[in-house]
Order: sequence, then structure tokens, then C-alpha cells
Amino acid sequence: LQTGSGAWRTASVERVGVESVTVSDGPVGLRKEQDGATLSAVCFPSVAKLACSFDTDTLREAGAALGEQCRAQDVDVLLAPGINIKRDPRCGRNFEYFSEDPYLTAALANAYASGVCSQGVGVCVKHFAGNNQEYGRMVCDSVIDERALREIYLYAFERVVKESAPCSVMCAYNRLNGEYCSENKRLLTDILRNEWGYKGLVMSDWGAVADRVKSIHAGVDLEMPQGETDRLKRALEDGSLSGESLTAAAERVEALARSFDRTARNADSEYQHKLATRLSAETTVLAQNNCKILPLSKTDKIAVIGAFAQYPAFQGGGSSKVNAYKTDNLLDALTRAGVDYCYARGYELDGTTTEELLDEAQSVAASRDKVILVVGDNACTEGEDCATLSLPQGQLQVLDAVTSANSNVVAAVQCGSSVDVSWSHAVKAILIDYYGGEGCGQALCDVIFGDEVPRGRLAETWYSNLPRFAENYAADYRRAVYAESIFVGYRYASTANVSVAFPFGYGLSYGGFTWGEAALSRGEVKSGDKVNVSLTVTNNGKTKDADVVQIYSTNLDGRQFNEKKRLVAFKKVRLKAGESKKVTVQVNVDDLAYYDVDKGRFCVNGGRYLLTVGRHADDAGQVLELTVAGDNDTVDRSGELPSYYNVDENFAPSEEEFVKLYGKELPTVTTAIDVNSPLCELQNTAFGRFAVNRLLKDVPPRNVRSALASPLRAFAANRMSADMLDTLVAILNGGFRQNIFKLYKQNRAYKKLRKRNGKA
Ligand code: BGC
Repeated sequence: LQTGSGAWRTASVERVGVESVTVSDGPVGLRKEQDGATLSAVCFPSVAKLACSFDTDTLREAGAALGEQCRAQDVDVLLAPGINIKRDPRCGRNFEYFSEDPYLTAALANAYASGVCSQGVGVCVKHFAGNNQEYGRMVCDSVIDERALREIYLYAFERVVKESAPCSVMCAYNRLNGEYCSENKRLLTDILRNEWGYKGLVMSDWGAVADRVKSIHAGVDLEMPQGETDRLKRALEDGSLSGESLTAAAERVEALARSFDRTARNADSEYQHKLATRLSAETTVLAQNNCKILPLSKTDKIAVIGAFAQYPAFQGGGSSKVNAYKTDNLLDALTRAGVDYCYARGYELDGTTTEELLDEAQSVAASRDKVILVVGDNACTEGEDCATLSLPQGQLQVLDAVTSANSNVVAAVQCGSSVDVSWSHAVKAILIDYYGGEGCGQALCDVIFGDEVPRGRLAETWYSNLPRFAENYAADYRRAVYAESIFVGYRYASTANVSVAFPFGYGLSYGGFTWGEAALSRGEVKSGDKVNVSLTVTNNGKTKDADVVQIYSTNLDGRQFNEKKRLVAFKKVRLKAGESKKVTVQVNVDDLAYYDVDKGRFCVNGGRYLLTVGRHADDAGQVLELTVAGDNDTVDRSGELPSYYNVDENFAPSEEEFVKLYGKELPTVTTAIDVNSPLCELQNTAFGRFAVNRLLKDVPPRNVRSALASPLRAFAANRMSADMLDTLVAILNGGFRQNIFKLYKQNRAYKKLRKRNGKA
């Protein structure tokens, strides 16, 4: 029971009536694999886009639809949501994650989980924890100071575990503060179970277990996918593993298996496709709308430029990739809407262009009243980070050509994460579409012509310039030092007072809203209290629309270093055309807390706080003052941590300063050759080079960099047994003569065994 039965199931034990549990990837459509193929399922907008709803109802609705897909395809646990924080916009998996902000992530992830679970399906919250870059993800050590860990990287996990009691949590591939997450007892047992009271199952990410015995000791109940059990048997015999630990793990798998009602249900794919389309339209972010060019009129003569108008970038790559039920595109939607348009491809799907394509795009743009230019990035994928935020060179050339021919350009950006928009002055409007799911073509058409209004608000900062501390992001496969600590996303930008392209929380609307004066229900509070902020919101538009009231706190008196703004509450307000509504947003005083490392818990400083009621993180908004009763016994460490107290555009704390914050020496980077060594470190001997060449034989050139930063053990699956892997390591450590014959013999035995088991 403690290891999978194949890739997507747990083992069953018929004798005692324990059925197997079927798991499958999400997060925006089921990816059930059957007989070597992926079954089709409706592909919803990426989580990055759904998060722009700033709306728990939206996430609940999407979650329920995904739960329904699971029931229809006999899946018990959806391997989602991923709730890692977007530490850097270049993380290859950002499209799967909600936000750079832990509070927003927690609220939306809880809603998503409640939707999935409403269908009797379990969720698996992942990737626990500190998995914020893809490069070297199975080797890299995320070095995070305790305060940032608790306030930023563990915060959403803590809230989801406590509020949604997910049936499973997936531990991440990476190391965290010196130890693999899968071997990290502090993370998986001390914090998750003992502090947070988690009762569910911990499974490993696929192939994240480096040492099964250590991982059981740390708290991994289920290794996925299927692994070998010989080592466990030996460990039981020699006493290094106790029967109790193994039983505890197996019992959690059993408890999970017994927790489902497996009555099959149907998923109505047509209905879900429509839902995916509507959610895509609603979560689109209107980032710029000069001269109110949008919405366009269906009688305008329009040029549509960009290959994505025909082949949309609607989902990212990797384990979340869905075999979409039916993919829409903008051109077909325009045709259905009876719009008069001419189309030019402009660029190829790989982002390159040619003189011919440029000329065609330019002349089509010149011949029409208005241009819809679809650009973006279709390459975001698990396993690789993005090298740059810039659009592909060919698309930038198209942008130049088109904007020089026509001044009425509406750009729609399809992307997994934020991109550089330094070209924004050249276009009139920008619609941020992210990866909009399979209905994105119709959704974009609806938004462009005002049949739906864009209501999205950015769940991440769109930078003009990346912060200085981000210069080394994902440069090292061995160690990622989170020297910026709590200053992530807008928490950095607001504190450093740097201007950004589009701030966190930002999004325009077609009609506009007016906000009345905001008032606090009380001005003096203490930890545990709740305080209400009320104001009247009026929709000035001609159609129903929705605005988002956001509340950011500023801690004025705390002597620890603090971010200038922190989201502590938000509310989506839906209004009919012309309607006014009194809105009350509740702020939980405990959400003003910081993590006190010495006390080992969250504490709310006594003293004054500002609550800014605004439309986004940069909005001066309306400022209300709150006084919190309590101690302010934090220590002023500005003398030893000057960078953290004076955050500006040059903020880039040195490793030396970070070590003081970290409170101890940074974990050492081991250079010993073992099963966890990345391939690139094995090439010092002739045999090492030979072995690495063999292992890389079938790896496509674009994946070689990440493969070289992957551990030797990752290449062992289906190629060698754990014992062979150990022998290989002994050879790589200089024991060629002593071990080569042993390896040969082990290889023969392994091949025989596989043949007997019917595997090639
Ligand atoms: C990913 C997980 C996913 C698993 C199973 C891993 O590579 O990191 O998010 O659930 O594969 O497909």
C-alpha cells in the first residue's frame, strides 16, 4: 500500500476489501490516461487566469465542474490545486498557480477545493513546499528564512489544510532548507501534522522519493508512482524501519481508499464547454483602453493578425496538459458573429516571422479600420523556466509592422505568466487573456465586442523591470537562496516604490465604477477580532459588471521589517447596469499578523495600522486607520539587516546579510556522487561521460539543459533497479573494476525479471 500500483492508482487489498484509489492530474481539466492515450475533457482557463476573477464563487464553480469530470471518468482524487507562490514571473509552471500573494492563493484554493469536493472527489494540494522554479527541481535546495516560509510559502498550505481538510497533500520534488521535501520530517510531520493537525495522506510527487525509508520516517505515506519495495523489506528486517511507521503509512492509504462513494456520474461536456467559455471571458483583464477603443463594433472593418487567432495558446505544457474536448479559435468566433475581418498570420507558432509574413500583416493592417493583434507565448511548460519575459522576436517585429500601419490596434496577450509590455504605448488597448482554456476564441470575441465585459483583476504584478534581486533567478540548479525574504511581487514593488507596468489587483472595465466613502465599523481592535469596511459601489456602465474592492494593510509601528502593502481582504461585487450597492468587506485582525520566529507563531503587533481601500496594490485609495491593542515587543534589527529595512529599487540583499536573517549557516551543497547527483556533475570520468551520453540519448535538444540538472535516479525508472543504481554510483565514484561485472550481472537479472513481468 505504501507505493502506487502503476502510475495512477494505489494498490488494492481484496482480502480486506481495500479498493484502489485512482488519481489524475488537473488543475483545469482531467488528464486521465487510459491504454496509452489521454481521455478527452473540457479544458478550463488556466489557474493563472481563473485567479484573475478575484472571486471565490468562480473558483468553486470551476472546481465543481472538474469534480464532475472526475466522477464521470472514475477518478477519486484530482491532483490539484498547485498552490505554490509565483516568486518570479519566469517560473515555467506559473500558469498552474494562482498568485504571487498567499492570502489570495489561500482564499481561491479553498474555494476550488470546496467545488471539487462537492462532487465527492478528493483534492491533492501540491507542491509542498518551496517549489518555485523548474530548473533543477529535483536537485535544487530552496533556502528560505523562517518568516518568509511561514508568511509567504507555507501560508496558503496552512490555511487550505486547516479550512478544507484536503484528503491528500503532495510533497514537492525540491529540497527545502537542506533536505528533500520527501525526507523533510520538520515539514511533513512537525509542521503539517503536529502543528496544523493534518489527518489526511501525504503522497510524493511523481519520482520525488529519493530514499523510501527516509521518506517514511519523514511522513510520506504513499510513494508515487510505483516504486520497489525490496528496500523496505530489508529495512524492516534490519530494524532501520519500524513496523509501526509502515503501518501508519499503509493505514492512511487504506483510510483514503475507504472514504469515497464511487457512484458514477455524467459530465455534460457541452455545458462545461460553455462554462469554460464564460469563465474565460469574465476573467479576461482589460489592462489598457485608450480612447475607449474597446468594445469594438461588429460593423467595424477589422484586421486580425497573429497565428494565435487561429491556433490559440490556450493551455500550458506538462502534466496539466488536457486533451481538450473541443478547441475554439478567434477566427471561427468572428465568423459566427458575422464580423467583417481579414486575417494575416503574421508569425509562425514558434514565434518567428519572415519578410513575407510581415509585409502581409502590414498591408492587411493598413487596409482596415481597426486591428486585433493576438500575441503571446505558447511555450510555458512544467520542467522549464522561461529565459525572458519578452515576447518572441518575430512577434515584436509584427507588432512594429502593424502598429506603424494602423494606430487602432487592440492587442490580446495569451500567456502563461506576465510578459514584458514595453510596447504598450504603440497599441490602444491591451486585453490580457492568459491561457484561456478551450473556449478562449469565443470568449475573446465576446469581450472584444462587449457581449461579455472583462472583469479580471491581475493576480500578479506585471513588471516594467524585474527587481534586481531577481537577476539570478533559476540560474543555479543546486541552490535557490530566497534572499528577498517576504518581499515577493507587489509586497516588494510597493515597499520599494518602483513603478510597474500593471500592478497586482489591476484591471479596467468598460463602464467604470464609483466608490462612495469607506468607513470602518470600529477603530480599535485586538487579535481575534473582525472589523468591517463598508462603502457604496456604483456601476456606471450600460451592462451588468463586477468590481473588486481590495483592502491592503500597512503596519506602522512594528519594529520588525515589513512590507508596505499586504492584501488582507477582497470582495467581488456584482452589479446591474447603473446599480449601487452597499458593500461590506470583513477584515480579520489576525490577517495583520507577522510570523515571530523567536516565539514560533504568528503574532499581531499592537499599534497603528493603515487599511487602504483600493482597486489595486498601487492605488492610493481611501486610507482608514486602525489601532490594534497588544504588545509590540518585536526587535528592531535594522542595524544588522539594513537592506530589509530600506527596500528600494536597488534591493538585492547580499548572501552575508541573508545569513543573518536566516539565523544559521546556509545548508551545505553536497558534491558527493550519489543517486541524487545531477547528470552534469557526473562527467568528470570517461565512464561518467559515457553513462551521461547514454542517458541523454533520447532527450530532445531543448530539454538537455534541464536533463543535465536532473538527478541520476530520475533516469533509473524502467531502466534499472535500485541495486543497479547503487552499483552505477559505486562505479562513478571510481570503483569501475570492482563493480562493472556486478552491474552486468544485475542488468541481466533485471532484464529477465522485466521480461517475466511482461515489460520490455
Ligand atoms: C508533477 C505533478 C503531477 C505529477 C503526476 C509531476 O511531474 O510535478 O504536479 O501531479 O507529475 O503527473
